[in-house]
Amino acid sequence: MANVEKTEFNLAGPSGPTGGTPPTDPATARRGTINPHALNTETDIETTLRPRSLAEFIGQPKVRDQLNLVLTGAKNRNVTPDHVLLSGPPGLGKTTMAMIIAYEMGTSLRMTSGPALERTGDLAAMLSNLMEGDVLFIDEIHRMARPAEEMLYMAMEDFRIDVIVGKGPGATSIPLELAPFTLVGATTRSGMLTGPLRDRFGFTAQMEFYDTPDLTQVVSRAAKIIGVGIDPDAAVEIASRSRGTPRIANRLLRRVRDYADVHGTGHIDLQAVRAALIVFDVDAMGLDRLDRAVLTALIKGHGGGPVGVSTLAIAVGEEASTVEEVCEPYLVRAGMITRTGRGRVATAAAWRHLGLEPPEGTIGS
Ligand SMILES: Nc1ncnc2c1ncn2[C@@H]1O[C@H](COP(=O)(O)OP(=O)(O)OP(=O)(O)O)[C@@H](O)[C@H]1O
Ligand SMILES: [Mg+2]
Repeated sequence: MANVEKTEFNLAGPSGPTGGTPPTDPATARRGTINPHALNTETDIETTLRPRSLAEFIGQPKVRDQLNLVLTGAKNRNVTPDHVLLSGPPGLGKTTMAMIIAYEMGTSLRMTSGPALERTGDLAAMLSNLMEGDVLFIDEIHRMARPAEEMLYMAMEDFRIDVIVGKGPGATSIPLELAPFTLVGATTRSGMLTGPLRDRFGFTAQMEFYDTPDLTQVVSRAAKIIGVGIDPDAAVEIASRSRGTPRIANRLLRRVRDYADVHGTGHIDLQAVRAALIVFDVDAMGLDRLDRAVLTALIKGHGGGPVGVSTLAIAVGEEASTVEEVCEPYLVRAGMITRTGRGRVATAAAWRHLGLEPPEGTIGS
């Protein structure tokens, strides 16, 4: 039980203050004085920036509409909502959405993650502590150990588990009733989920990359919350360089704010965005150092492919899973690489992005 990360958030309450406490005066939100009690760490800021309700959640209109139906239906029938699976690349709002589900239902959220549920006892403890209507959030659910996963099947379906007491021939199994709860699972790799687990979710939401208008709203909203002034064209520029990802948009905003604080008046204009993103190695398309390293390895090291993802990962000195889950989804969506049966292939756009002429026959030329 030692490694179970068990946090409880009470998100109940109809319309609490939204998105944390915005600093009142932009000037006090800026550097200058050091206040040890201020929201200083980046994690604190990330928490402050999380939308709390469905209405506040920007973008993902399809997921929002579908989820709204699921939750409203459950509320009207006075039952706990069906289990929800959220899948999509990092930073698109899966954890945020899990918190919103608990908030909208007026219940508590308990959080854990697949790798923390190594032994069935860890999961049993977690499940037996749930109160009726609670939301149990399991992050990285595809990384759960198999025995725990099998216990979860029964819990999801019948709200019941069998706890094994003792060892060897004397072991007995004791059935344990659970309070009806809603499981929210998050995964960056829905392909790695086993069939039986996937089938037990009543609703699967595929989170998509955000478009620039939606990310512009994310940036403007975050700027307001952290108390920094930003020109509309500067917000669009940050949005368009954020790889379709709100977490990156918020992070770039903070870096640009640093730049504007140090080199300007603290107000963010287009020039500050452009200059700051050069400093932080974010290129015109929003690709970062690792994205470019992958493209370079693929094109300069392997003539554009096809090449396997593990070879690429070794070339850039990263885990294969990082390349596959963090870099690739966006490079594919940006039309820079395609996945084929024999490996990854660079498109003409990728060659041109590196300033090279694509050889004849390159995809997209
Ligand atoms: N729709 C949104 N509107 C505004 N901000 C958002 C939205 N979605 C996400 N964010 C911001 O992006 C940050 C990252 O979101 P979140 O932690 O929910 O992503 P995630 O999908 O769980 O990522 P990971 O797979 O890495 O766990 C949050 O702190 C939040 O501030
Ligand atoms: Mg998360």
